[in-house]
Amino acid sequence: MASRKIIIDTDPGQDDALAILLALASPEELDVLGITVVAGNVPLPWTQKNARKICELAGKPGTRVFAGADRPLIRPLVTAEHVHGRTGLDGPDLPEPTMPLQAQHAVDFIIDTLRSLPSGEVTLCTLGPLTNVALALQQAPDIAPRIRQIVMMGGGFFEGGNITPAAEFNIYVDPHAADVVFRSGVPLVVMPLDVTHQVLTTRKRVEAIGALGTPVARAVVELLEFFERFDEQKYGCDGGPLHDPCVIAYLLQPQLFQGRDCNVTIETGSDLTLGMTVVDWWGVTSRPRNATVMRYVDADGFFNLLTARLKTLCG
Ligand code: BDR
Ligand code: CA
Repeated sequence: MASRKIIIDTDPGQDDALAILLALASPEELDVLGITVVAGNVPLPWTQKNARKICELAGKPGTRVFAGADRPLIRPLVTAEHVHGRTGLDGPDLPEPTMPLQAQHAVDFIIDTLRSLPSGEVTLCTLGPLTNVALALQQAPDIAPRIRQIVMMGGGFFEGGNITPAAEFNIYVDPHAADVVFRSGVPLVVMPLDVTHQVLTTRKRVEAIGALGTPVARAVVELLEFFERFDEQKYGCDGGPLHDPCVIAYLLQPQLFQGRDCNVTIETGSDLTLGMTVVDWWGVTSRPRNATVMRYVDADGFFNLLTARLKTLCG
């Protein structure tokens, strides 16, 4: 079977880094057409450099990385150095990347790719604020029906929020962009905190990755050990939630996840609940179903997949 064509839109971030590694380690199933970068966890100069560092770590310096929006559509940028460190990729001492940043703007790359390939071929995997995707949809509304699916990490409902009591970080940073995406009519699969909080980097799981003994595995362990310290303290759990790789794992093994189709509407008006993903899980409104919202994951299955794929990266 031909591999599935994807564009990864991301703001790396240690967990974004793991998602990128998982995708690049899965060439039989996934054809990474490009990585488009957005400001989020840290400002754009860091996120675009981090994306290139990760491609080089994976031994895939030919991967195309495009820089996109350096701020949300309307609101000022909110970042998360308190979670990810000053660089966004604190932990291992990765070398400065030598592979080039592409000259084309990420939004133009998304639009051109969707227009040039047959309709329904390209899946967008979003791991950060939705600014690039919203800009592409606004600038080129004709691309919406051409997108096969958007699989995103974002939102939270039963778990509440992680940056405010009501909002998850990716949606909170650019709620207006999220609103554009959720109203776009593109088929959406959503990995909210309700799922990602089940995927914990426990000591045992991190040790299993470390036991691979490769340079990639060593860097991953350092990334995870830095990343989990914040959430371990916050939630009092063994390990931190590995949010973004859930998106890629879904493309590889969708049977690991369970959810349901429902309406999701983004709060853009209230100061108190700005960026909340209001999920009509119980179908109590007549609002149309616009997303498949995941709720459960086989966490051991997820880590088995991740560890097995990381083993194939020798970079
Ligand atoms: C999301 O926010 C970021 O900090 C992570 O990279 C992830 O995409 C989790 O709320
Ligand atoms: Ca992210």
